[in-house]
Amino acid sequence: MIEERVVSGMRPTGTLHLGHYHGALKNWARLQTEYPSFFFVADWHALTTHYTEPDIVEASVWDMVIDWLAAGIDPSQATLFIQSRVPEHAELFTLLAMSTPLGWLERVPTYKDQQEKLADRDLATYGFLGYPLLQAADILIYRAAYVPVGEDQVPHVELTREVARRFNHMYGREPGFEDKVKAAAKKMGSRKAKLYFELRTRFQEQGDEGALETARALVDEQQNLTSGDRERLLGYLEGSGRIILVEPDALLTEASRLPGLDGAKMSKSYGNTIGLREDAASVTKKIRTMPTDPARVKRSDPGDPEKCPVWQFHLVYSDDKTKKWVQEGCRSAGIGCLECKQPVVDAVLAEQAPMRERAQKYVDDPTLVRNILADGCDKARAIARETMREVREVMGLAYT
Ligand code: TRP
Ligand code: SF4
Repeated sequence: MIEERVVSGMRPTGTLHLGHYHGALKNWARLQTEYPSFFFVADWHALTTHYTEPDIVEASVWDMVIDWLAAGIDPSQATLFIQSRVPEHAELFTLLAMSTPLGWLERVPTYKDQQEKLADRDLATYGFLGYPLLQAADILIYRAAYVPVGEDQVPHVELTREVARRFNHMYGREPGFEDKVKAAAKKMGSRKAKLYFELRTRFQEQGDEGALETARALVDEQQNLTSGDRERLLGYLEGSGRIILVEPDALLTEASRLPGLDGAKMSKSYGNTIGLREDAASVTKKIRTMPTDPARVKRSDPGDPEKCPVWQFHLVYSDDKTKKWVQEGCRSAGIGCLECKQPVVDAVLAEQAPMRERAQKYVDDPTLVRNILADGCDKARAIARETMREVREVMGLAYT
C-alpha cells in the first residue's frame, strides 16, 4: 500500500517565533501522527533571497531545527532533513526546468509581490524566478499527497500540480503501455484484474468517481506490484499514460492566527515577535508593554477589544469564560489593561515551558541534532533516488 506522504519545508532565515508555531509547527506536529511526514530545511530557498548573507542561513539551520524539536516535531515519527543534503532535488529541478514555460513562473503572484516587498534586495535573478519550480521539485520528488502551507504558498502548490501533469503527459507514454498494463493487472489475479477493468470503464464512460476510488484502493492494497506497475495501473485508470509524478494537494493550515505584539503580522522585520524559546522575563515584559485600545487613556476610560491587539492573543489563548471577562471588563472599564494581559502572559509562558524543556538536551548536545538530520537525509534520499531513477529513465538518461 502506498502511504500518503506529507512534505513541507521552512526557510532558515532567522530564529522562529510563536507566529511560526501557531501558523505551521503546531500543524506539522499533528500531521506527523497521521501521515509519513517529511519536513526539511529549505536552505537553497533561503539563499534565493539571502544569497549575500550565507552566515545567517548557516547559523539559522541548527537553531531552526532545535525550534522544530522544541515545538514537538518528533524525529521518531517524522523525517527531518536538509534540502541541500539531498542533491536529487536540484537534479529534478533542472530536468523540470527543461519543459516549464517561463510564463508559468512569471505569473506566480509571489514573484512580483516579493520583489516589491523586499525592494532592498536584488531579486531580479534566475534563482528567484525559479523558486516555485524548485519547490515543485521538493514536493514531487517524494510523490507527496499533501503539502501543509500558508495561504500565500497555495499558488506554488498549484504550479506543482501543473508541472506534474505536464510531465506525466509528456513522458508517461511508453511503447507498449497497454500491454504492460494488462501484464500488471494479471499480477493481481484474474478476479481482481477483471474488476479493475470494469471499474475503469465505469469511471471513463460514466464519470463514476466512486468506481475510480475503489479501483485505486484495489491497486493500492496489492502487495506484489512494482512501483512501475502500480503507476501504470493508476495512470491507466484516468487516462492512457503512466503517472510518474503525483499531483499533490495543499493542506491549508487552519491557523489560529497569532498576530505580532502590535497587531500587525508577527514578523522579525517588524520587531514585534515573541521568540519560540524566549526567556520568561523578556516575554512578560513584552506582553505587559503591548499597545492596547488607544481610547483607554485612563483606567476609567472604557475600551473596545476589537481595537486592541491583546484581544487577538485572547482569541488564541483564552477559554470562553476569560474571553467573556475581557469583553465585559474592557467595555465597562471594569478591568485594567495590565489585569487583562495577565492571563495571556500566563498562557504564553505555559505554552513555552515544555518547549524550552524539550530544547534543552539539543542545546546541550548539538550532535543529537546533527544525527537526527543525518538519519533523515538518508531516509529522504532513498525515496528521492527512486523517483529520479524513473524520471531519468523516461527522459532518456538511463544509458544502460
Ligand atoms: N516556499 C516555502 C515558504 O516560503 C518553503 C518551501 C520550500 C516549501 N519548499 C517547500 C514548503 C516545499 C512546502 C513544500 O514557506
Ligand atoms: Fe485591550 Fe484588554 Fe485593555 Fe481592553 S482591557 S484595551 S482588551 S488590554
